[in-house]
Amino acid sequence: MTGPDAWTVEFEGWDPSDEGRREALCTLGNGYLGTRGAMPESTADGVHYPGTYAAGFFNRLADEIDGVAVENESMVNLPNWLDLRIAVEDGPWLDPSTVRVLEHRQALDTAHGVLSRSTRFVDVAGRHSRLHQRRFVHMERRHLAGLHTSFVAEDWDGLLTVSSGVDGTVTNSGVSRYRHLAGRHLEVLAADEVGDDTVVLTARTTQSRHRVAVGARTRLPRPATTVVARGPDRAEGRIGQRLTVEVHAGETVEIEKIAAVVTSRDVAVSEPALAATELLAEAPGFTDLLAEHTRCWERLWRWCRIELLDGARPAPVETVRDLRLAGFHVLQTVSRHDLDLDAGIPARGLHGEAYRGHVFWDELFVLPVLVLRFPALARALLLYRVRRLDAARRAARAAGQRGAMYPWQSGSDGREESQRLHLNPLSGRWLPDTSDRQRHIGLAVAYNLWQYLQATGDLAFLAEQGGAEVFLEIARFFADLAEHDPADGRYHIRGVMGPDEYTTRYPGAAEPGIDDNAYTNVLTVWVLRRARELLDLLPSTRRRALLETLDLGRDELRRWDEVGRHMAVPIHDDGVISQFAGYRELAELDWDAYRRRYGDLQRLDRILEAEGRSVDDYQASKQADVLMLFYLFSADELRDLLGGLGYVLPPEAIPRTINHYLARTTHGSTLSALVHAWVLARAHREEALHHFDRVVRSDVADLQGGTTAEGVHLGAMAGAVDVVQRCFAGVEIRGDVLRFNPHWPGRSGVLELALHYRGRPLTARVTDREVQVSADAGPGGPVRIAVGDEARDLWPGRTVRLALPRSGRPDGEDGQRAPSTVRTEVIDPPPAPRS
Ligand code: BGC
Repeated sequence: MTGPDAWTVEFEGWDPSDEGRREALCTLGNGYLGTRGAMPESTADGVHYPGTYAAGFFNRLADEIDGVAVENESMVNLPNWLDLRIAVEDGPWLDPSTVRVLEHRQALDTAHGVLSRSTRFVDVAGRHSRLHQRRFVHMERRHLAGLHTSFVAEDWDGLLTVSSGVDGTVTNSGVSRYRHLAGRHLEVLAADEVGDDTVVLTARTTQSRHRVAVGARTRLPRPATTVVARGPDRAEGRIGQRLTVEVHAGETVEIEKIAAVVTSRDVAVSEPALAATELLAEAPGFTDLLAEHTRCWERLWRWCRIELLDGARPAPVETVRDLRLAGFHVLQTVSRHDLDLDAGIPARGLHGEAYRGHVFWDELFVLPVLVLRFPALARALLLYRVRRLDAARRAARAAGQRGAMYPWQSGSDGREESQRLHLNPLSGRWLPDTSDRQRHIGLAVAYNLWQYLQATGDLAFLAEQGGAEVFLEIARFFADLAEHDPADGRYHIRGVMGPDEYTTRYPGAAEPGIDDNAYTNVLTVWVLRRARELLDLLPSTRRRALLETLDLGRDELRRWDEVGRHMAVPIHDDGVISQFAGYRELAELDWDAYRRRYGDLQRLDRILEAEGRSVDDYQASKQADVLMLFYLFSADELRDLLGGLGYVLPPEAIPRTINHYLARTTHGSTLSALVHAWVLARAHREEALHHFDRVVRSDVADLQGGTTAEGVHLGAMAGAVDVVQRCFAGVEIRGDVLRFNPHWPGRSGVLELALHYRGRPLTARVTDREVQVSADAGPGGPVRIAVGDEARDLWPGRTVRLALPRSGRPDGEDGQRAPSTVRTEVIDPPPAPRS
């Protein structure tokens, strides 16, 4: 892969084995819709996988595996609007496998959301031709997408046949592990020509009964093109139009296809096919739509600007490009079109079928990016959880608990969607899947609600729109889960799983689950403390009403305090926080031997299972678990949380804990690299860029070896942006103040960020020496900005500069800044933001 600038991701040469990765990375989307970067002439054939997905559009299918009935809900692969086939004379449809490819190049322009493809080839008859295609999924008009094709016959005259249509025969078969499970989610209801140049196909999902209409309008914009014939092109499950046109050597034939996708889940729609037909009748041509679309992207990037400027040793152009690519895919997966969609954040984007489009705790890594740029969108995504509060309550009741138990994997209605069995491709065995024991998902939901409140001050969302109810029901669930043990006077949470998915149970145990996962227990304490704070924040009438509705009395609240002061957290004599009770008694793996034998240990669980062993028996982690605590909390906050429980966290305990898990973690989840980069960046600032580079390359370099093709890792992509803002720039929203605690290497120059805090657009410029924040002009009061203990009011139209003398650096190993004096200055008028 090459790239001349930091906004273009390029792929040179035709490489079938890399096509899946390219398709995922070249996915175009607008939050409502996502379409993989598959070639328009392709079908799912093991090399290509055209996939189009609509956010929140799910269907459920049943299967039987080894006599066990299973059900899976999946984000449905929609009828393929890209479908455009070209044949020279009467020859076969062209595709890279039926011609000799001379040149092939794909380029993704992340500044404007445009994917282009150029292929030069010679066909079986020795004729040379050139094909150039550009496409977009419209960022403003959510239902529309466009594909423009230029075809040049280099050295021949003759006829070109084009078939442009919509293919409703698609299935969900993008992930090989799921391929022998049922995958046909759609039945085609109708496929019609609805005008001279337009076709519409309507399909319905088999179980959820959602309808989707996909229309395509095909035009030849050059008046000089001679059309010899035009007519319908029908096949089972597909509708298209077939055009025969004359071509002459050196001349260009242009084909313009505009597609409309509408579903029965959409608001303000009467009937999908009708809406698609009308949208296509009214839509302007490709050029105008493209111009609107690119302007929209320019606005988006201005709003979300992240610039790395002027360093003595600035970040390499590849790093900047990969960071933008990561941000680009986040902006394409969740956008303002999600405001009315009732869709969550799919872990693998709208980019592929891994994890079936389900929503996990990954929003913990995505929302911090959104909350400081698109607070209304963050609220909409939190509402996805609010609407599923009753489902979470039902799940808690079924488990014998009070409160709300959010599912580890969530889809349409908020029931638990985790698979019951999973396949180990190394052994070919289907194994019980107990990952739904990850109760900590609920804590992440609560943490996100709190972060939202901090960033926006939008108490009304919590008070009036169900946010507080969710928070308190989660607190109730975890308080209820904690059992008191008179032997040590502490509360214990038993039988759960932490974020590390390797550890599912104690060695040889019949029942899944481990006890006192430090991450779960500490976060529970945090949630219980915030729950009390939240109640105090609510207007008294609202608080009374809520306490009454939830039947939350004094005794129960007293118990929350009790649990919050006496929770058990396993800590070893050497100060290392234990992943769970009994963790240090597990065997040590011979890491060197396993590395020698297998090289890549990311899926150590599968390796050991295939050997007849169990990863449960070892001190081995798939991903950050204890270290998540350092990710979510500053050293001071963590010390405070543990201190409140009567535990002391001496300074040397932090590096010791980090080192312990670093040596025993395989990074089998991309989230792990992210958290480790973050945690290390705090203690070893100069190493930060190296780790950051690994995070931004997770998908570009397919660091997990083959998983990118199944969809990008949205948590890691958003996390890359988040490392820049919350780790390097040290942005923290706490106590009605926007704080900066930068960990930005000086040699890397200036880090410039556009942020949105408490309703006000801000520009922050961070170096290793100072933080300068400017507020957009406009009515309203100031926001509070702080570096260290020094806080200042920032008024609209003003700039605050907070400087740290060099003596205040570097940070100590424990992640705490050495004491320093902060100089502050208010500058007026503000300097013009850099473009
Ligand atoms: C990780 C989870 C994550 C999920 C979806 C898994 O591999 O272990 O932490 O939520 O992927 O991204």
